[in-house]
Amino acid sequence: MDFGFTEEQLMLQDVARRIAQEKIAPSAEHFDRLGEFPVDNMRMLGENGLMGIEVPEEYGGAGMDPIAYVLAMIEIAAGDAAHSTIMSVNNSLFCNGILLNGTEAQKQKYVRAIAEGREIGAFALTEPQSGSDATAMRCRAVKQADGSYVVNGKKSWITSGPVCKYIVLFAMSTPELGARGITAFLIDTANPGFHRGKTEPKLGIRASATCEIEFQDYVVAAEDVLGAEGQGFKIAMGVLDAGRIGIASQAIGIARAAYEATLEYVKERKAFGAAIGTFQMTQAKIADMKCKLDAALLLTLRAAWVKGQGQRFSNEAAIAKLTASEAAMWITHQAVQIHGGMGYSKEMPLERYFRDAKITEIYEGTSEIQRLVIARNETGLR
Ligand code: CAA
Repeated sequence: MDFGFTEEQLMLQDVARRIAQEKIAPSAEHFDRLGEFPVDNMRMLGENGLMGIEVPEEYGGAGMDPIAYVLAMIEIAAGDAAHSTIMSVNNSLFCNGILLNGTEAQKQKYVRAIAEGREIGAFALTEPQSGSDATAMRCRAVKQADGSYVVNGKKSWITSGPVCKYIVLFAMSTPELGARGITAFLIDTANPGFHRGKTEPKLGIRASATCEIEFQDYVVAAEDVLGAEGQGFKIAMGVLDAGRIGIASQAIGIARAAYEATLEYVKERKAFGAAIGTFQMTQAKIADMKCKLDAALLLTLRAAWVKGQGQRFSNEAAIAKLTASEAAMWITHQAVQIHGGMGYSKEMPLERYFRDAKITEIYEGTSEIQRLVIARNETGLR
């Protein structure tokens, strides 16, 4: 077993770390406070190969492996979680499904601009009445005689919805078939029949824009169907498996930032005549934070490694996401507690880490859904 990284992986990690620490972290408070989408920073990530890390170079990406993606995501998330949310949707939820299921023309048209960071992509699965139970979607796609589809319906909680150019959309094409009646479509938001709804005011990752979207008689040309009719649910689940490795990495980045700030603070802050890091109650928290952080990192690297081997990695991705997101919530909670009043103050980033960590237990499959996936895989029962 080799715990080392390749030179290429370390180079990308280094690029991501420099951008995160020099450009993103210093502006994170501003974007969080205003809930403003960081347009220029996103372009910068694209110019540095961070918007399509696993996308082959022929489609505008960096042509690297899943381990490199994990390392880069951790660095960007440690700078600011919201930036890494936008980055993860471009990289995995948008590009991955098209690379795996798209035609050559679809890859050229839709992947390049997103992988280069010139445009922003989105993934539309969730609806107002269906989140975890994704097959209960109502958004409807009706096939026409010429092979095109007419789409009507709403999608909610769309990350990058207010700013995206292209969307991978899932809609019910044959409702009586349930999961097997869902088809995936590629959407250009400049076309008629596409509407953006209200932007969601959020607890955390506030610089990533989220909104409801609506389709009213939106026509999808036959060449913009992604994969075969009825394959949409499997495409969505496969894409989410990869997405969950990205969210696990994001959780690790947030947790690492909180942990590193805490390590500094416990050496400087004095109480009862000594640095608080000398107290056993603080030491126990530090030890538990470090163990959870390392466990999350190793499980996430394992999931990425299995993905890189071309094997099914649904279980490993769910284990990584569950472990890393719960670790991030716990670590940021303890970091706020150890910082006391300063942890609660907006003068330090600890309260932002705490708010940002929460979403990792919710999106791309809640912790409850990850447990369901893991238990089904382990027992073989449904
Ligand atoms: N890969 C490939 N195929 C898969 C799969 C996977 N990981 N998981 C399931 N499938 C296939 C099954 O094999 C089955 O195929 P057959 O019909 O051929 O047998 C089919 O899909 C249906 O599977 P299930 O019967 O297991 O489906 P289910 O209705 O019981 O649902 C679920 C399973 C795990 C609960 C799933 O619905 C799920 O993951 N829900 C959570 C949805 C989610 O993660 N939403 C996040 C929204 S996106 C987001 O958050 C983006 C963002 O903002 C950034």
